[in-house]
Formats: sequence, structure tokens, C-alpha cells
Amino acid sequence: MSWPQIRRRLTTDVRASAVWTGLITGAGALGLAVAGWPYLQPQTVSTHGRITTSIVFNREVSQIFQRKCFQCHTDGNVSMALTTYAEARPWAVAIKEEILEKKMPPWSAVTGYGHFSNDASLTAREISLIISWADGGAPSGVLLADEDKPAVIIPSLGGWEHGLPDAVVAVATAEKVAAESGDRVARVEVATGLTEAKWLRSLQLNFTDRRVVRYAAVYEARTGQWLGTWTPMHQVTAMPDEVGIALPAGGKVRVEIGYRGTFEEATGAGELGLYFSEKKPALVAAPLEISAAPVTVAAGTAGERVRTELTLKAAVSAAALWPALGDGATSVEVAAILPDGVVESMLWLKKYRADWPSAYVLKEALALPAGTRLTLTVYYDNPGTAPLRAQPSLAVTAFTPRPAASLAP
Ligand code: HEC
Repeated sequence: MSWPQIRRRLTTDVRASAVWTGLITGAGALGLAVAGWPYLQPQTVSTHGRITTSIVFNREVSQIFQRKCFQCHTDGNVSMALTTYAEARPWAVAIKEEILEKKMPPWSAVTGYGHFSNDASLTAREISLIISWADGGAPSGVLLADEDKPAVIIPSLGGWEHGLPDAVVAVATAEKVAAESGDRVARVEVATGLTEAKWLRSLQLNFTDRRVVRYAAVYEARTGQWLGTWTPMHQVTAMPDEVGIALPAGGKVRVEIGYRGTFEEATGAGELGLYFSEKKPALVAAPLEISAAPVTVAAGTAGERVRTELTLKAAVSAAALWPALGDGATSVEVAAILPDGVVESMLWLKKYRADWPSAYVLKEALALPAGTRLTLTVYYDNPGTAPLRAQPSLAVTAFTPRPAASLAP
């Protein structure tokens, strides 16, 4: 959805809010409003009967938003700020709708199909608290004067989440993102500048202007091995402890960045931070990718199924999944069919959003014996008038335990 649409939605909501502000002023005059954590109380205006919940923004709701929304909804970020009551109140109706439709936060994995350490979805309790708040008149829990003051900590938009990286590489320095431009993917190659081979254990991207970046994926340029994916929700791609990826001296990385314009031109530049292990890691991640042959989805087709599979020659442990599906993908299933016939469902994205791709980091690495068939099934819709080209792929962070002998110094 574009900014103009958002603005429209806001304008309609603001009218409701004006009525609300009138009520609050009344409540304040009556001395009903109580300010300050931990003495927050919902403002009740019994004569109008509009506040019917004890859930308030500055106690329950802002805490949830801090965990699940501030990655994107703060000043200077990819969408409008929802950090204070004054900012959030006009959106109460829209917030309820987005949450009930499971559009926000944008996380498409269906609960129960794979367990992910980076699961960004709202819990059932979080959903019910937000809905009670919105349905019950969206009370603030603060005095009017404090409506612009956040009751929670606003995360910083820049910097390194896990301390200074061992190496920092500038990426996409020449990229400009035009005002009001739609989704566009840029691919750039940059030299790592490494003078000796290193073991990569983690990486992060740090973009100059977060308003225009939706995601970024990093690959080793020569082998194509996937190294990690950045999203506003997960800036750091963590690898399991003791796992590392070999980066050669004098090598390059390829960075793929998904942009969407804001109301003015912005820079698409950023920095890539690399973190290394000092010692050889006990476990080495090797490239594992399933890729389908390119297909053409004819104009006007819906539900076109593309399926591909790969039989593992050697046993591996799978730690993270990065589905790259392209435009038109509507749902995705990843499963492992073990040699004994047991089907292990690894990931199901029921309402896939091509504009919000994400990596899926498994809570526990999944052991896949030799002979396992890894399957990727993707459904495409093409409502357009031109044929759509698609070539879905799935990159997996997979490692093999090194033989004990080679662990000796
Ligand atoms: C990964 C970033 C991200 C996260 C996390 C996120 N949002 Fe959003 N949200 C957006 C963007 C970007 C838009 C603008 C529409 C778009 O581009 O999809 C948006 C739009 C919205 C809208 C406006 C929809 C409309 O009416 O136009 C609401 C309301 C909203 N988000 C609420 C939330 C809430 C509540 C949370 C947390 C529970 C949340 N969002 C988490 C990025 C995010």
C-alpha cells in the first residue's frame, strides 16, 4: 500500500479522533485522568460510555508495539510512527483491521509449521489486548499534556546491534531511490577487502535511510552461497553457535536490496558489517540451495503450482531458510521427506507477501539424514496482462559436523 493511501486512511480516522479529544478534554477537566507509570489508569467518561476497556496505550499497547512494531513504525523509518499515544490513536481502527487480517506485523509463516527463533508474529494474548484497546475506545492512560511523550524506549535507527563489526564494507553507495517509486530490487557486488581468508559468524547491514529499504540479502559472489538476510525486524542474521562460513581473501559479496520510494528522493546506500570467528569454527556451513527451472505464468492464471525437490547425498543439519520467490508468489511450502517416509513440515507461508521477504531461522537445527528429499512448492497468481517469469529458489544454512580427527589442533 502506498503513502497516498495511508494518508487517506489517516484522514478518515482523524475525524473520529477529534471527537475523542473533545471527550478527553472533558475528562481532564473533571480530574479523571491519572498520569505516570506505574499509576496509569484508563480515562473513563461514564456519561458517554465510550471507554469500555481497562487496556490503555501507555501500559499494555505500547509495550507490545515496542516488541513487534517499532522496528518499522518510528520517525524516519519505513512507515509512520506509532510511538506515542498522539501518533497511534488516529490509527486505532486501522491497527485493529491490519492485525485481524494478519497483515501487520508482516510475517507470513503459519504457526505450527516450523518453529523459528525470529518469529515476529503477535501472540494470541497480544492480539486480544490490542483489539480490546481499539474496541474499547482506545484510551491513552496519560494526561493530555503527555500524549506526545513515549512511555517506552524508541530503538535507534542506525548502528550495530552487536558491537563494532570486524570489517565494514560500504554498499550501494551510488543507489538513489526516486520519490514515490515502487518496489525495485538492486543487485550490487562489493569487494570484502579481506587480505586473508576468514570465518564469518554473523553479519548486519546498516542503511543510511531506513525509509526506503524493505530487505537485503547477502551472498558470496563466486559460489552464490547465501550469507544472511536483513529486514527491519531482523537486522542481524545469526548463525547457530560454532557455525561459520568460509570467506576467501580478495573475495566479493553480492548484495540484493529491495527498495520502495518514499515521498522524496532518498539514498539507498548502507554499510555491511562482518563478524568473524578468531578460530576455525567446529561446524562449517556449506551452500545448499533448491532451485526450480524457470517457468512462465500466463496472464490471468491463478494458483499455478511450481514444485521442485532435491535429494540430499549426505546428512546435514538445517539452521535457516531463505525463500526467494519473486513476484506473483502467493503461498509457499517447504518440507523434508525423510528416508523412512516421515514428512517434516519446515515452513508454510500461507499468504506470502513478495514485498516483505524474510529469512526463517529455525529454533533448533533440523537433522536431515542422507536420502532426505527436500521439497519446495510455490503457488503463483498472475492477475496482469503480460506473462510472468518465475524461478523460485530456497537457500538453506546447512552444516555437517566435522569429523573428530580434523578438530585436533
Ligand atoms: C517490517 C516492518 C513493519 C512492522 C514490524 C510493522 N509494520 Fe505496520 N506497516 C509497515 C509499512 C511499511 C506500512 C505501509 C504499508 C506497506 O508498505 O506495507 C505499514 C502499515 C501499517 C498500518 C497502516 C495500514 C493502512 O491502513 O494503510 C498500520 C495500522 C500498521 N502498519 C500497524 C502496525 C502494527 C500495529 C504493527 C505491530 C503489531 C506493525 N504495523 C508492524 C511496516 C511494518
